[in-house]
Amino acid sequence: MIPIAEPALSQEELNNVIEAVKSGWISSKGKFIPEFEEKLAAYCGTKYGVATSNGTVALHLALAALGIKAGDEVVVPTLTFAATANAVIYTGAKPVFVDAHPENWCINPEKIEEALTPRTKAIIPVHLYGHPCDMERIIDIAKRRSLLIIEDAAEAHGAEYKGRRVGSFGDIACFSFYGNKIITTGEGGMCITNDEELAAKMRVLRDHGMNPQRRYWHDMVGFNYRMTNMQAAIGVAQIEKLEKFIEKKRKIAGWYSERLKELERKGLVKLHPELPWARCVYWMYSILIQDNFGLSRNELMNRLQLEGIETRPLFFPLHLMPPYKRGDKMTVAEELSGRGVNLPSSVNLTAEQVEYITDRIVRLKS
Ligand SMILES: Cc1ncc(COP(=O)(O)O)c(C=O)c1O
Repeated sequence: MIPIAEPALSQEELNNVIEAVKSGWISSKGKFIPEFEEKLAAYCGTKYGVATSNGTVALHLALAALGIKAGDEVVVPTLTFAATANAVIYTGAKPVFVDAHPENWCINPEKIEEALTPRTKAIIPVHLYGHPCDMERIIDIAKRRSLLIIEDAAEAHGAEYKGRRVGSFGDIACFSFYGNKIITTGEGGMCITNDEELAAKMRVLRDHGMNPQRRYWHDMVGFNYRMTNMQAAIGVAQIEKLEKFIEKKRKIAGWYSERLKELERKGLVKLHPELPWARCVYWMYSILIQDNFGLSRNELMNRLQLEGIETRPLFFPLHLMPPYKRGDKMTVAEELSGRGVNLPSSVNLTAEQVEYITDRIVRLKS
């Protein structure tokens, strides 16, 4: 079976974990944690990193540090992983969904304004499947309406908007290092920011709200959202390879696009977009199955499974699922979700495997 995603781990990760274990610092103190925080923050062009136990709690930590609370509303794309909205709900605030942009699949800035109310406090743009959001337009709305921005960059380490890396546009940006992400720590996450006070507040909230100068004195109710030194040990080795991984991801995307472009020309599929202002990092290379392909998206996925190829559907729009249901219609996200399929996208994928996958897709079309 060719997996949809698998981590690319080697000797460097192992050496660092051995070092962490031998040092005895296996919980959330130890040298790898600040090193990993500094390296990711610097890579993204920001000053501070606050590592967390996963990407979902990174989002919650960011929202909590920014003071988002019950009665507030936060704008999120409907086409995203549920964690984006769940983190908002954990604070007691309400996620307000916005449709996707047909060209880049991310939140559509044109639709954001309609979703704003006097209760709106923040926007969470999600750089979906590695494609950056149209940040200038989002920042413009946020400035005019005095809204906070939390970038959800869980799927987009190293993606660029107009030559600048994602993670540096918002008040805070959040990353995930789950095993299928571009770089991984097994489970893991991080908030990055340029704001010293926010970084300090996130560190306190991450550690039960404990006063850093006065141990066991709690000034606020916090959480245990800490990353372990063993996770960070893997992260330090992974971040050294991030640019190499992105190069490979972009190469894989190039192979897919080259081999499927004839199907696109015939109107049978649409290929993963990359707009002129974007450097997409193709966390998951994806295609949209068109009506005249001959098989439905689900039929294609089932047939590929039989051929030893693992795939995933694009996310279901959140506004359609029971815990988030709003009764509204978001045609672009619904269309993308019904047609989209993520293809195997691991850094380890070979040209021969992409050839095998694309040959199967070409043969399965009617
Ligand atoms: C867009 C998005 N946000 C948040 C998360 C949550 O990250 P984690 O799985 O590390 O909690 C994920 C991924 O899993 C994601 O894809």
